[in-house]
Amino acid sequence: MNLKQVAGEKAVEYVKDGMVVGLGTGSTMFYAIKKLGDMVRNGLNIVGIPTSGETEKLAKQSGIPLSTLEEHPVIDVTVDGADEIDKKLNLIKGMGGALLREKIVASASKKEIIAADSSKLVGILGAKSPLPVEVARFGWSSTAKKISELGCKTELRKKDEEIFITDNGNYILNCKFNKIDKPGEMEQKINNIPGVVENGLFIGLADVVVVASNKGVKVIEK
Ligand code: 5RP
Repeated sequence: MNLKQVAGEKAVEYVKDGMVVGLGTGSTMFYAIKKLGDMVRNGLNIVGIPTSGETEKLAKQSGIPLSTLEEHPVIDVTVDGADEIDKKLNLIKGMGGALLREKIVASASKKEIIAADSSKLVGILGAKSPLPVEVARFGWSSTAKKISELGCKTELRKKDEEIFITDNGNYILNCKFNKIDKPGEMEQKINNIPGVVENGLFIGLADVVVVASNKGVKVIEK
């Protein structure tokens, strides 16, 4: 059983006719978007707001009508994945590189649904996953030095030996903490550093988490 598929397909049950739908990014979202495509073929009338070029391409291939946040500044429901989820439903996101658009879309959404397999549930954020931070290219190493003074090791993200560049033309620093005790404070501290565009701590943005494990699917509400 593919747990990402189970979670992704369950999460899209929150999408109803006539809604503006935020479409997250990643391998769990792959299944959610495919399923939404099936629902659209069966008559569901929605408009999707993609959070990345990758998602835009997949949604188009799946036959989901798309629009922009400019056209629809308020989103009814967003479905997205996550890298870590704590008990308060705070998240680390961005290992797929789309954290900036995902955070803008999440904060424009009336309801944020997170789909994940149970490996993403953690006691404390940051002990397993690095925290992705999107930074301007200009002066990135001095931005990295300032971030590391907050208690982490920073590494410039690469893909296939090349520096990874986001859809917004920026770099990503993977910031490895031992753990993040006060994620709300850390989110603000990182974002206060000049050169930081956004970080992958999503605090208080998730409303529902749909978690799939070998025991079945659990829906956790805020
Ligand atoms: C992309 C993300 C993804 O939601 C996150 O990385 C989870 O990905 P996956 O579903 O592939 O495990 O934040 O920026």
